[in-house]
Amino acid sequence: MAELDLQKIVSHCKEYGFVFPSSEIYDNLGAVYDYGPFGVELKNAIKEYWWKSMVQMHDNIIGIDAAIFMHPTTWKASGHVDSFSDPLIDNKDSKKRYRADVLIEEQIEKYKNKAQKELDKKGIDTNASDEEKARASRNYNKALQLEAEYIKAAEAENFKRYKELIEEHEIACEVSGSKNWTDVRQFNLMFATKLGSLEESSTDLYLRPETAQGIFVNFLNVQKTARMKVPFGIAQIGKAFRNEIVARQFIFRMREFEQMEMQFFVRPGTELDWFEKWKEIRLKWHLALGTNPDDLRFHVHEKLAHYANAAEDIQFNFPMGFKELEGIHSRTDYDLSQHQKYSGKKLQYFDSELNQNYVPYVIETSIGLDRMFLRVMSESLKEEELENGTRTVLALPPALAPIKVAVLPLVRKDGLPEKALEIYNQLRFIGRAFYEEKDSIGKRYRRMDAIGTPYCITVDHQTLDDNTVTIRERDTMKQERIGIDKVEEIVRKKVDINNLLKKAI
Ligand code: GAP
Repeated sequence: MAELDLQKIVSHCKEYGFVFPSSEIYDNLGAVYDYGPFGVELKNAIKEYWWKSMVQMHDNIIGIDAAIFMHPTTWKASGHVDSFSDPLIDNKDSKKRYRADVLIEEQIEKYKNKAQKELDKKGIDTNASDEEKARASRNYNKALQLEAEYIKAAEAENFKRYKELIEEHEIACEVSGSKNWTDVRQFNLMFATKLGSLEESSTDLYLRPETAQGIFVNFLNVQKTARMKVPFGIAQIGKAFRNEIVARQFIFRMREFEQMEMQFFVRPGTELDWFEKWKEIRLKWHLALGTNPDDLRFHVHEKLAHYANAAEDIQFNFPMGFKELEGIHSRTDYDLSQHQKYSGKKLQYFDSELNQNYVPYVIETSIGLDRMFLRVMSESLKEEELENGTRTVLALPPALAPIKVAVLPLVRKDGLPEKALEIYNQLRFIGRAFYEEKDSIGKRYRRMDAIGTPYCITVDHQTLDDNTVTIRERDTMKQERIGIDKVEEIVRKKVDINNLLKKAI
């Protein structure tokens, strides 16, 4: 079965009602997308999988749903007003704008890819030391040098040096091919808006760029009302907004997106153990979907944010290569301490075992719901060569499928629709069921394959005689004749979310 490129996924999402460009009749709004009838079901199923595994299956995690608007001081305290920005650079010939850090990181990746070929040719082991690899490959040497210079510049926030590195390594614009660059400038990613109707008395607000701060400012409210003891976590799913400059690659990088975040509050000094534990738990959650383990990997942050003492991403092998899917960060006591400082209110926890007050340390797991959607789509969408042509099938984990089962009368007469509707009305208690009588049965099967429906139930003339139907399984296309009384149990078992939860926990 062929894996599909990003463009095919984008087209499939549009054609089959998963994702549409926003405001399409007005020629779209850049990097904003709407989820269609099957997209919203898949998105809700992913949320359900995350929420149940994090909140329902962990006694020490509870949920909240904080507002998108927050007091503006929140963003001063969190550091977003002063430092949530991207270093931008423009190509003077094409006028195309880039993130300077991304240009450099891509160049490092290019050197490494070239180096890999050289090393493979010379038979150098992948576990060989950096020195050995650098001796054997000029490109490996270049990658290491650029990486070291880049980290130094990033840590010193020396954006002038970014431009020098771009020039020294002769990085060219992908549109014009020219190396004619502007200086690097900082651009804050938060969207600003106003609260209140009167210009003079209105307050400047921001649309939240992450959901995490809603959790931090509610730390004591939640801890006290839910009577939680450290270590415990607070989980939340919600929208976040970033004025992304390089907003490409479909729903991978959007200006309005959804995050599923969890902040886990721990005793100071235990955070690095918890960091390792959460890495393991989250990887298991990803693997439970049946993903090829080679398509997931950890990526250690080379440059740590000033408040973090460890940070890794779970990267997925998207159609455009390995990219960040989820971040796992050890954020120390930075956020709570900052909110304490700016609000003047104590955000401490009394640990009765230690008989001591402290500001807890925090491990964060943060995953983009839309990125998770893209990952599920990209690993599920396949084109299969059959004897009679190509079949497009969305081999989703059944528990995530937008439609759990379709009921199809073979023809639109002889009482078959009535019988099929009777079965359909029974099955809709399991999850979203679908009834369709238009088109040939073959076409209807293909349509269900393309939206990922695990089972199709076909009602034919024999059904009226002996109360049996055919059940067709999406992945194997195998059809079996079974009694109507067996259908509900078979479908229910297959699409049960607990199948995933049991593997994830
Ligand atoms: N609270 C931590 C935080 O927000 P982040 O690495 O900036 O960390 C976490 O974002 C996750 O949110 C990312 O791993 C990614 O999955 C998702 N994400 C971030 N920016 C995004 C964007 N512009 N579009 C879609 N998803 C995004």
